[in-house]
Amino acid sequence: MLGKKYIADLIGQMTLLEKAAEMTQLWGENPDGTLMGILRGFHEKEHLSANAGSLLGFNGAERVLEAQRLHIEENAHHIPLLFMTDVIHGYKTIFPSVLGLGATWNPSLIEESAAVAAAEAAVSGVHVTFSPMADLVRDARWGRVVESTGEDPYLNSLCAAAFVRGYQGDEIGAPLHIASCVKHFIGYGAVEGGRDYDSVQLGDYSLYNEYLPAFQAAIDAGCELLMPAFNTVNGIPCTSSRRLLRTILKGDMDFQGTVISDCTAICELVAHGSAEDNAHAAALSLDAGVDIEMVSSTFYENLERLVETGEISMQQVDGAVERILTLKDKLGLFENPFKDADPEREKELHLCPGHRALARRAAAEALVLLKNENCALPIKKSERLALIGPFADSRKLIDIWGLVNGKETDCVTLRSALEDYKTDYAQGCHLWNLRDMDEERLPDDELIAQAVETAARSDKIILVLGEHPDMSSEAGSRTEITLPENQLKLLQSVCRTGKPVVTLIMNGRPMVLNEVAASSDALLVCWFPGTEGGNGIADILTGRCGPSGRLPMTFPRATGQVPIYYNHLPTGRPNTTGRYQPFANGYIGIDPGPLYPFGYGLTYTDFSYSPVSLSAAEITLSDHSGPDEALLTASVTLTNTGAISGTETVQLYLQDMAGTLSRPVRMLKGFQKIVLEPGESCTVTFPITAKMLEYYIPGKGLSLEAGTFRAYIGAHAQCSAYQEFHLKGGY
Ligand code: BGC
Repeated sequence: MLGKKYIADLIGQMTLLEKAAEMTQLWGENPDGTLMGILRGFHEKEHLSANAGSLLGFNGAERVLEAQRLHIEENAHHIPLLFMTDVIHGYKTIFPSVLGLGATWNPSLIEESAAVAAAEAAVSGVHVTFSPMADLVRDARWGRVVESTGEDPYLNSLCAAAFVRGYQGDEIGAPLHIASCVKHFIGYGAVEGGRDYDSVQLGDYSLYNEYLPAFQAAIDAGCELLMPAFNTVNGIPCTSSRRLLRTILKGDMDFQGTVISDCTAICELVAHGSAEDNAHAAALSLDAGVDIEMVSSTFYENLERLVETGEISMQQVDGAVERILTLKDKLGLFENPFKDADPEREKELHLCPGHRALARRAAAEALVLLKNENCALPIKKSERLALIGPFADSRKLIDIWGLVNGKETDCVTLRSALEDYKTDYAQGCHLWNLRDMDEERLPDDELIAQAVETAARSDKIILVLGEHPDMSSEAGSRTEITLPENQLKLLQSVCRTGKPVVTLIMNGRPMVLNEVAASSDALLVCWFPGTEGGNGIADILTGRCGPSGRLPMTFPRATGQVPIYYNHLPTGRPNTTGRYQPFANGYIGIDPGPLYPFGYGLTYTDFSYSPVSLSAAEITLSDHSGPDEALLTASVTLTNTGAISGTETVQLYLQDMAGTLSRPVRMLKGFQKIVLEPGESCTVTFPITAKMLEYYIPGKGLSLEAGTFRAYIGAHAQCSAYQEFHLKGGY
């Protein structure tokens, strides 16, 4: 690192327009993909091109080496560019969608996957990734749910921190690592009606207790950058909110890093009705704390005049430039502007066997087994399998964000992964009956008829259904979170053969699967499983690996139940019957609960839990020293009562029975993945600390209130075994 003085001297030499360019991120690509255009006049402003601070989505070692060399020549102060891109769940080796990674409940696997992604991206010249997305999501209609790790603040926090550690390594600038940008601050997952870019109403109770923790975890893990969300919160766009970005983020949360706007979000302030014009938008965002403007150029076009009129001070501009240059310095770019970019290492690392092996393991660990009756799984070599469905022989195993840098052609299909088994394949129907209507292709009815014939000849049907990857993406919100109708028709048709049916779902969100579950002997949720998807799924189907994934979000019975999440507040009239109950919380004609709760997932064996036991039932806070010290422990004895080895994810939930503010019916506070052989038992113990019992009271701050608490331990969020303890003292 060259340090503060070097950067201060550099800033001292820069003109205001050069500073404004440094604060601007340009699209990296010319429309025709040419290199020279980036540096000479793509924006019809050579000065901006030559002095821009960063490029979006421009990578590949050869191109980066050339672009960086030319840029340093052209830049007035020879300042290197930052190359930033969306490395969301892999770079070339694509891991399961982030929601699938959340379903692994395995932060160290997530960290490893992020380290692999960082290494592959770094050798292609990438310096910064726009990941992790730490948004809490409760509305499965929202298309970007696929990019989140789900509905739980604790699980999201562990995952966000793991992503940051994996990308950044032990120290920012470390070889084969990249800087991480946590997004979208804040409340993006709470957009009204699940409609992308919509408004958000968010009170401080929910903001501090539910939405901020995962961002805090990323910041505490050392995350270098942060991106404000597109949406408004309580009427103010995040991009221009002084309260959110200055008071809360830079104040309460002590974020010292660089803030980059989302794509064109600054000029969108005009469309939001928050800014009169682009100049006003630039002033509001810079004043709120944005350092880099992504893609649009309101900073570049307006900062000179805004400083002249005193609407913005030179210190504010210098503060932003200092943060950007410090990031470049921490990455070591002033000493070596090419960092890890290396065409030879690209060949060595991209999709190398070690990376593929990790992606395969992640694809398998992400799978969640929701049903397994009549010994449907694992499959046997002796069985004749009808492999049916639009995903059975498809390479569409990567979501939109994985396709930013990854390729479908690198994916392993399930059909090829099951080569050693006796399979007969039939497509069954098209993936999405509304799109790509092509006269040449066979109508669904014919494909279904072929599939029925294939199914009738088999011992067992493996039916691979799901959403088109475009259905869960940015601006990919849905009004019905069901499978397309043609796929449901295929399901009904093959079921009529009476053969056992194992259904696999590829999905980017929780889905309504009532009919699918009722018609299938076994049901597995696979998410978009990534490059090694076929192999990972085959590992589970064949029993080479046991399923161990758990739902990171609640699966509803009907779209109308959304948002549905396990850690809701109690109501004055809870439904205690599990059926429709007049004058109780819920909907007419439907069981008020989910189809599958948060945390749910089966294994190929069975586990039994002893009753919960506590080390103490009466605790006095003053007998204990710090918020991280265990006040008591809660434990169970877990036994594998089945016939094969398996991994159980034992979950601890706490409930504060009464507080100044009503507290959630339960909250995940710990989990452990335990591997047991048949007949084996072990004691699983969770420490319970003051920190786990604290919560934020608006106007007061972090508080711990005396009273009664319940500790639940079990296999998912609806587990029923608990013990109570009483706490004296508080703060
Ligand atoms: C998305 C961000 C993403 C950015 C750059 C935006 O549309 O909201 O999440 O990082 O584009 O690709």
